[in-house]
Amino acid sequence: MVKIESPRIIVRRSGPLSGSVQVPGAKNSVLKLMAATLLAEGDYVLTNVPAITDVHTMAETLGALGVSSTWLGPHELSLTNSGNITPEVPFEKFDKMRASLNVLGPLLTHYGSARINWPGGDDFGGRPIDMHLRGLEAMGAEFETSADGIVGRCTRLVGAEVVFDFPSVGATENVLMAAVVADGVTTIRNAAREPEIADLCNMLRKMGCRIDGIGTATLTITGVIPSSLQAVTHEVVTDRVQSATYIAAVGMCGGTIRVARANAQHMGMMLTRFTDMGMIFDIDDDGITATAPDRLTSVDVSTLPYPGVATDYKPLVVAMLSMAHGVGIVTENLYPGRFRYVEELRALGANIEIDGHHAVVRGVEHLSGATVVAPDIRAGAALVVAGLAASGITEIGDVFHIDRGYDDIVGRLSALGASISRVRPES
Ligand code: UD1
Repeated sequence: MVKIESPRIIVRRSGPLSGSVQVPGAKNSVLKLMAATLLAEGDYVLTNVPAITDVHTMAETLGALGVSSTWLGPHELSLTNSGNITPEVPFEKFDKMRASLNVLGPLLTHYGSARINWPGGDDFGGRPIDMHLRGLEAMGAEFETSADGIVGRCTRLVGAEVVFDFPSVGATENVLMAAVVADGVTTIRNAAREPEIADLCNMLRKMGCRIDGIGTATLTITGVIPSSLQAVTHEVVTDRVQSATYIAAVGMCGGTIRVARANAQHMGMMLTRFTDMGMIFDIDDDGITATAPDRLTSVDVSTLPYPGVATDYKPLVVAMLSMAHGVGIVTENLYPGRFRYVEELRALGANIEIDGHHAVVRGVEHLSGATVVAPDIRAGAALVVAGLAASGITEIGDVFHIDRGYDDIVGRLSALGASISRVRPES
């Protein structure tokens, strides 16, 4: 990812927090819902769309392919597929995020060819795409790869049995979107079960796709002809990682907050671990009220595919443990390289050792403000949360990472009483 000049976030010790924050739709859902508009002509409306830069980048990418988009309101996006699609993404638009890989399946299956360049996204170490390609190859696609990117070709894709070695979110979504208009039945075994995939399945079903097993590890998809599909209006599922971010903030700063629209059912394991740390939750149909203990207690946490504790929560958990009572071991099972933010937390005074894919976090009583840099989206949010509990001033650079996935984190935390602001580089 190209490092560009971006604003900084300035955080001062805050708390106790109080009040209510409303969490918007999930980045990891909306980007795929947007890609699904390639499958059928018509006017789509997505509601509860987060105002994040990844949505703008995806809108630009879709615009280059032939799907135009217009904001109808701050969180409402209309997308029009007029049927005039060019299945080749200009390479310069495609190095920005990994989710752009999601146009591969819909383009190939509907238009018989697709050209994308190597996907970008957060740098967690190696992020291969072999499962995406193998799944689509099982359905009849052929790929050529070069230093620039990937070119895929097929006649009509044919339903197949696709068995993943690992429940990859992106590969499940790509094969799913390819299968909905393939010839015959596709079965995806060891499919990822994340709520964002269920959200995509629900939108595809509304469009007229035939999908069984939604939310389970076996998805059965019966292909239909593209002309039988219709454009729809769909509300994006709430972002569980943004929800957890505000819970982590109150956990570190103390107080009680309401996280409106947070879906506790989608956060089961994470809420259990937070409860083990001493947090108290009052859960209802429209959100979660979270109360912090006087001091968090350390726990051990391992990341796993859903319904396990998501890897995207991990930087928040490590930040919380850095001031908890005791020692917590955090084990990363998805991205061994996803510990880059630890250095930044250490700069605030955290006591963290890395041993392979484990982080040993010894809770300290005080963190102290420092100048740090956000290495990726969730790690950036974790630094914000840690800064709220640190004495003095914490200044976070490379905020563009946070902006890729967080819709006004500064405004939302301010509304909860946090001392946080955003400044331009020159000010
Ligand atoms: C998605 C999320 C990301 C989250 C991740 C895991 C989006 C935009 N991003 O990423 O925020 O951290 O799920 O919950 O939705 N793998 C392979 N070969 C492949 C594909 C994946 O080996 O072809 C490996 C990856 O290196 C990783 C694991 O499988 O170790 C999980 O990756 P995957 O579930 O595919 O994550 P993404 O879809 O990239």
